[in-house]
Amino acid sequence: MSNGAQAPGFPILTGFRAMSKTRNKKPQPRAAWSGRFAEPVSERVQRFTASVHFDQRLAEHDIRGSLAHARMLAACAVISRRDLAAIESGMRTIQAELRSGKFKWSLASEDVHLNIERRLTALAGDAGKRLHTARSRNDQVATDVRLWLRDAIDALAAQLGALQASLLEQAARHADTVMPGFTHLQVAQPVTFGHHLMAYFEMFARDRERLEDCRKRVNRLPLGAAALAGTSYPIDREMVAKALGFEGLCANSIDAVSDRDFAIEFCACAALIMTHVSRLSEELVLWMSPRYGFIRLPDRFCTGSSIMPQKKNPDVPELARGKTGRVAGHLMALLMLMKAQPLAYNKDNQEDKEPLFDTADTLSDTLAIFTDLVAGIEVDAAAMRAAALEGHATATDLADYLVKKGLAFRDAHEAVARAVRAADARGCDLAALGLAELRQFSPLVGADVFKVLTLEGSLASRDHAGGTAPRRVRAAVKRARKDLR
Ligand code: ARG
Repeated sequence: MSNGAQAPGFPILTGFRAMSKTRNKKPQPRAAWSGRFAEPVSERVQRFTASVHFDQRLAEHDIRGSLAHARMLAACAVISRRDLAAIESGMRTIQAELRSGKFKWSLASEDVHLNIERRLTALAGDAGKRLHTARSRNDQVATDVRLWLRDAIDALAAQLGALQASLLEQAARHADTVMPGFTHLQVAQPVTFGHHLMAYFEMFARDRERLEDCRKRVNRLPLGAAALAGTSYPIDREMVAKALGFEGLCANSIDAVSDRDFAIEFCACAALIMTHVSRLSEELVLWMSPRYGFIRLPDRFCTGSSIMPQKKNPDVPELARGKTGRVAGHLMALLMLMKAQPLAYNKDNQEDKEPLFDTADTLSDTLAIFTDLVAGIEVDAAAMRAAALEGHATATDLADYLVKKGLAFRDAHEAVARAVRAADARGCDLAALGLAELRQFSPLVGADVFKVLTLEGSLASRDHAGGTAPRRVRAAVKRARKDLR
């Protein structure tokens, strides 16, 4: 997928590896902008300012943007048809070299844009040198990142949909499976496991909405802004926007090259998705602990201990919980990157890419693995039921019962609270007290009380939109299946 692992043949060289690869090599070719300078930058500065080792993954998007730009320049008679043909043919060669891994990246060419331009000029001669007419790397890079992010968002939204489908299948299977619902991690009221899973379905549904909304603001064209002030050539920005599938233009040239709010917004969406994943992860870890024993995860999602032979650890959810911090950190990194930057473009913005790429990669991996993991959850319904029978989970139902018999809710609450204390003193659940005992706390209690004190009675009574009654859960699943399609 476009936002996933690096395409074959794009070696990622980072940190010290990238440095040592270029050390002690013969003199590097002159930089594209070197005309103004009396001496070349030091090797250290070259390495410090280069971005090619991480922005090379924008190559395909860079070419798409360049082709749309060149075709517009030709249509507007800024370059000749012959130049355009040479550019198109050169780009085809470059594309083939990229895909076969034969493209030679050079640190001296600094970034993905200049690497491709240098190769194009080698292939197409002066036509290659004309490609950058009416353009700057400032509007070029903003365009590339937006194109790349748009693809990434589409892929991630589809992945979220797959995870939701997994949740739906489990929810359908467990629309009647009773478990204790918790508040403050204390047993609160009975719910069904299906209802609980559907809560996550809803979270991810909002996450998808957010991604799709964010996409609208990503999907605007910066090209034409040039360095910051626009260009004196007679360009047609609408034509470029249309060719690249952008929904509109960035309306102000200074804003177009300088803001990265679209990337920040995406990282905020991603951080929220991961936050939701982290909540599910935490619950999986708890449920899998023998203290709960609610679920089993298939062995393929767990690992053992090198010292304790009995261990089966929920590494996958734990890692997802941990990676949530990493993605939230990327959001902070981008916010701090943008903070107090004067308009317009500043080189700070080159630092947007690694956090952005890693956010999309981490999210993509996590969503893929959770789609399988959720499908693999095996439920111990008996353990869930036993836990629901332990914490006086139907106390609210007894209070509601008394209210329906005429008692004010606060008085009913008080009467049931005393009954709970009595049950605690006897070491049993509220539902296990006999009729005579219950009547000591309110004479309104009748033989019909046991209908509401059972787990099934409690569940069935929450029969309204959004409630946990099994028939409502089944209806929610049905509706969700339709929405997902
Ligand atoms: N590699 C640069 C970036 O990612 C491209 C834009 C460089 N522009 C410039 N004026 N130095 O932001």
